[in-house]
Amino acid sequence: MALVEDHFEDLYRTDTIKLHGPEAFEGMHRAGRLAAECLDMLTPYVVHGVVTAELDRLAREFTLDHGALPACLYYRGYHHTLCISPNHVVCHGIPSERTLREGDIANIDVTVIVDGWHGDHSRMYAIGEVAPRARRLIDVTYEAIERGIAQVRPGARLGDIGHAIQSYVEAQRCSVVRDFCGHGLGKVFHDAPNILHFGRPGSGEVLKPGMFFTIEPMVNLGRHPVKLLADGWTAVTRDKSLSAQCEHSIGVTETGCEVFTASPMGLFRPN
Ligand code: MF3
Ligand code: CO
Ligand code: CO
Repeated sequence: MALVEDHFEDLYRTDTIKLHGPEAFEGMHRAGRLAAECLDMLTPYVVHGVVTAELDRLAREFTLDHGALPACLYYRGYHHTLCISPNHVVCHGIPSERTLREGDIANIDVTVIVDGWHGDHSRMYAIGEVAPRARRLIDVTYEAIERGIAQVRPGARLGDIGHAIQSYVEAQRCSVVRDFCGHGLGKVFHDAPNILHFGRPGSGEVLKPGMFFTIEPMVNLGRHPVKLLADGWTAVTRDKSLSAQCEHSIGVTETGCEVFTASPMGLFRPN
C-alpha cells in the first residue's frame, strides 16, 4: 500500500507526459466506454425539434445513473454536461433552449469521469436531410480523425498525427482549426501534451506506450480562424462557414493504440 501523497502529482497537470500502466488502461477503457454509451443512448433523441438543454439533461442523468460524474459540469465555470456545437459553431456550444432543426449538423461532446478516469468523446449528428456540402464536411472530418489515429504507435511523433490530418483536410479544400487542440488525459482532464491537428512529419514528442490523449480535429468548410462569443465559451468560424469535429480518447500500446471511446453499438458515425 502506497501513501496517498505519493500519487498527488497524478491529479495535476504537469509538463511531462505521463506513462500509464495496465490498471490505468483498464480505468480508461471503462471511462471511454461509458462516454461512448452515453452518445449511443442520445442518438435516437437527436432529431428535428429537440431542445439542446434536454439532450444535456439526458446525458447528465445517464452519467450519474451509471455512477460516474460529468467532467464538464462546474469545470472552469461551465454549467453543463455536454457541449453541443451546431453548424458554424466550432466547439464549446452551450446547451440552451435552442432546438436542432432539419438540415442542421451538430457536434455533441461529452466527458465522463469513472473512478477518477476521464473518457472524452464527440461525434457529428446530421438532423434529417442536410446539404451535400455539410455531408461532405462530416465525411472529411471522420476520415481526418481515422488518418490521425492510424499514425499512433510507439516511435511515431506527434507531428506525424497533425500532418496526417492537415494534409488530408487541406487536400479536400477544407481547413484545420488552429486555436483548439487535443490533449493528454487520464486522472487529469486536460494534461500534457497538446495534440495539434496540423504539423510537420517527424516533429514533436516521440510517442511511447502508456501515453493517453485525445485526437479531436475541428474542420471548417471555409477558412480556419475562429472567434469567441461574448458568453466566453462558444467558438464560431469567423467567416461563418460550417464546422465539424469528432473526438476519441486513445492510449498508446506496444503495437499501436487502443481507442477507449469505441462505440459498443457501432454508432461513432451515427448517420
Ligand atoms: N470536451 C471538451 C474537450 O474535448 C472540453 C469541454 S470544456 C468544458 O476537451 F468546459 F466545456 F467542459
Ligand atoms: Co477533449
Ligand atoms: Co471533448
